[in-house]
Amino acid sequence: MYVCLCKGVTDKAIASAVAAGACSFSAVQETLGVSTQCGSCEGLARAIVAELAPLPSSQFYELATPPAALAYA
Ligand code: FES
Repeated sequence: MYVCLCKGVTDKAIASAVAAGACSFSAVQETLGVSTQCGSCEGLARAIVAELAPLPSSQFYELATPPAALAYA
Protein backbone atom coordinates (compact mmCIF):
# COMPACT_ATOMS: atom_id res chain seq x y z
CA MET A 1 0.00 0.00 0.00
CA TYR A 2 1.07 3.56 -0.52
CA VAL A 3 2.22 5.25 2.66
CA CYS A 4 3.44 8.50 1.14
CA LEU A 5 1.53 9.76 -1.86
CA CYS A 6 3.76 12.80 -2.35
CA LYS A 7 6.85 10.65 -2.87
CA GLY A 8 5.18 7.43 -4.02
CA VAL A 9 6.60 5.38 -1.15
CA THR A 10 4.98 2.07 -0.28
CA ASP A 11 5.12 -0.02 2.87
CA LYS A 12 7.13 -2.59 0.93
CA ALA A 13 9.69 0.07 0.00
CA ILE A 14 9.99 1.01 3.68
CA ALA A 15 10.42 -2.66 4.60
CA SER A 16 13.13 -3.03 1.96
CA ALA A 17 14.94 0.07 3.25
CA VAL A 18 14.84 -1.26 6.81
CA ALA A 19 16.07 -4.68 5.64
CA ALA A 20 18.91 -2.91 3.83
CA GLY A 21 20.02 -1.22 7.05
CA ALA A 22 17.93 1.91 7.52
CA CYS A 23 17.12 1.36 11.20
CA SER A 24 15.38 4.62 12.09
CA PHE A 25 12.69 6.88 10.69
CA SER A 26 15.33 9.46 9.81
CA ALA A 27 17.37 6.88 7.91
CA VAL A 28 14.32 5.68 6.00
CA GLN A 29 13.33 9.27 5.31
CA GLU A 30 16.78 10.04 3.95
CA THR A 31 16.79 6.90 1.82
CA LEU A 32 13.29 7.14 0.35
CA GLY A 33 12.25 10.75 0.82
CA VAL A 34 9.15 9.64 2.70
CA SER A 35 7.41 12.43 4.59
CA THR A 36 9.50 15.21 3.13
CA GLN A 37 6.72 17.22 1.52
CA CYS A 38 3.28 17.65 3.11
CA GLY A 39 4.13 15.46 6.11
CA SER A 40 0.70 13.90 6.43
CA CYS A 41 2.21 10.41 6.15
CA GLU A 42 4.72 10.82 8.95
CA GLY A 43 2.72 9.06 11.66
CA LEU A 44 2.10 5.98 9.54
CA ALA A 45 5.66 5.92 8.22
CA ARG A 46 7.06 6.17 11.75
CA ALA A 47 4.77 3.36 12.93
CA ILE A 48 5.90 1.08 10.11
CA VAL A 49 9.57 1.78 10.78
CA ALA A 50 9.07 1.22 14.51
CA GLU A 51 7.44 -2.12 13.84
CA LEU A 52 10.12 -3.31 11.43
CA ALA A 53 13.36 -1.76 12.61
CA PRO A 54 15.52 -3.53 15.18
CA LEU A 55 15.98 -1.86 18.54
CA PRO A 56 18.96 0.48 18.81
CA SER A 57 21.79 -1.21 20.65
CA SER A 58 21.37 1.11 23.65
CA GLN A 59 17.74 0.01 24.11
CA PHE A 60 18.69 -3.63 23.60
CA TYR A 61 21.21 -3.34 26.41
CA GLU A 62 18.59 -1.84 28.70
CA LEU A 63 16.16 -4.67 27.96
CA ALA A 64 18.78 -7.41 28.15
CA THR A 65 20.13 -6.31 31.52
CA PRO A 66 17.96 -7.49 34.43
CA PRO A 67 17.23 -5.00 37.18
CA ALA A 68 19.71 -5.25 40.06
CA ALA A 69 17.00 -6.56 42.40
CA LEU A 70 16.47 -9.56 40.12
CA ALA A 71 20.11 -10.23 39.25
CA TYR A 72 20.76 -12.36 42.36
CA ALA A 73 17.24 -13.60 43.08
S1 FES B 1 2.06 12.06 1.77
FE1 FES B 1 4.11 11.83 2.41
S2 FES B 1 4.93 13.82 2.34
FE2 FES B 1 2.92 14.03 1.61
